[in-house]
Amino acid sequence: MGAILIISPSCATSSSPVINSMNIFFVSAEVAPFSKAGGLADVAGSLPGALTPYVDSIEIITPLYGQIDRNQYNIASTDISGEVSLGEEKIPYTLFKAVHPNGNVPVWFVESDRFYSRPGIYTTTDGEGFEDNNLRYFFFQLVVLDIIQKQTVKIDILHCNDHHSGLLPALIKGIDPEIKSIFTIHNFLYHGHFSPEELDLLPVSVSSLLNETQWENYSSLLEGVDHADLVNTVSPGYAQELLAGENVDAHSYKRVLNARAKFSGIVNGIDVEYWNPELDQFTPHHFSQDDLQGKSKNKLELLTRCGLDNDLESPVLGSISRLVENKGFPLIVELLDEFVARGAKFVFLGSGDPSIAAQLREAALKHPGKIAFDDGFNEPLAHLIESGSDMFLMPSRFEPCGLNQLYSLRYGTIPIVNRTGGLGDTVADNGTSNGTGFVFEPYDLMPLRGAMNRAIDTYQIHHEWSELMQRAMAMDFSWDQSAKHYFNLYKS
Ligand code: GLC
Repeated sequence: MGAILIISPSCATSSSPVINSMNIFFVSAEVAPFSKAGGLADVAGSLPGALTPYVDSIEIITPLYGQIDRNQYNIASTDISGEVSLGEEKIPYTLFKAVHPNGNVPVWFVESDRFYSRPGIYTTTDGEGFEDNNLRYFFFQLVVLDIIQKQTVKIDILHCNDHHSGLLPALIKGIDPEIKSIFTIHNFLYHGHFSPEELDLLPVSVSSLLNETQWENYSSLLEGVDHADLVNTVSPGYAQELLAGENVDAHSYKRVLNARAKFSGIVNGIDVEYWNPELDQFTPHHFSQDDLQGKSKNKLELLTRCGLDNDLESPVLGSISRLVENKGFPLIVELLDEFVARGAKFVFLGSGDPSIAAQLREAALKHPGKIAFDDGFNEPLAHLIESGSDMFLMPSRFEPCGLNQLYSLRYGTIPIVNRTGGLGDTVADNGTSNGTGFVFEPYDLMPLRGAMNRAIDTYQIHHEWSELMQRAMAMDFSWDQSAKHYFNLYKS
């Protein structure tokens, strides 16, 4: 439980030169609170701050998307600008800079009219992916290279995250072989595929990129896996699943296996200041392990806010999630009628797949006062769901780490999860001595139904539920442990 690290023995290669200084450049397509589409943003917004005590320096770089409020975060322009070539075209950029509120970490923002000034991170407001996403992240990575070449930042280790920075480990070798790279996989589902024609747009020699591909397209994610000096993912459980070939196509699996000697898993931490029931800026009634009164007041607040029946006796199950199949919605939707009949209420928050949104909307119409659905991204409501729900529903088919179950534990909102990836690593079933939630397996309707029934049965036994909440709230998922593990990765 907690932050567990698995590292294969050959990870710390004896041939690696000892790094005397440790200046880290952290590359991420999203960084909370500036920009957020998913959990990557939360990690990029909190891990660097947690690493500051361990390293000589750490700086973050990310695109300056159009919707980022420059005034709110004091994001100022610098006199550093340049241009990079994409094919025949030379495209200019300007760097902006701010200090991250969490840990005073310097954050560089890449401004480009052509690629980032429009609103949206990866998609239009209608949820359509931008057609030029490949170019947008090629450009981003080339700017990172350009400023490294110009020595704008001090760097010993380049820490890349997900496919948006997956080409950098290969590209950096051509520039400065002394710079080491780490590639963190937050989700193996998203590859960032690009075509050979698009590859031709890169002005740098990338002949080292995989040419044995069985696909017509390249995968930015797999390039990161191939070329980084170390590769990690965001929980030991998910690392093991990838190494066992679960949910991995045969070709990718070959490349994962090739990289296994440098593969590890480190559970994400959470920002315990921002997700703190005693201080939460969006939680109307603060509460703690010692004084839970605020929790039921928040429940009332949540029910009112969502137009649900104001009865405090029956359990409220919260869900905050991208609306995608692999988060378990096909199972959840099947069970709604049955559990409403058992007296449960549901609050769903999230956006994504229009057909899932339509099913949730329909369920809310069918069960007024019992089911609420807010289609979108709403930070205050997310915090109110964590602070006012009794249980948190997260039956993902697979989950690299998952963060909402960690927020839920801290808020005494008991998670109901599938035993997969980070969910299995961070939630222990109530049937065990130190249970903190309800864990089922395999991913199927009957096991989920069983876990939800067990949760509601336990909820009705007051003292058992209180003890369960106490154990959940006592868990420590601060970054302290995991930051030390990242520090060890950097050292190795
Ligand atoms: C991705 C994964 C999620 C993980 C997050 C941060 O969003 O799907 O499981 O917690 O990245 O690493």
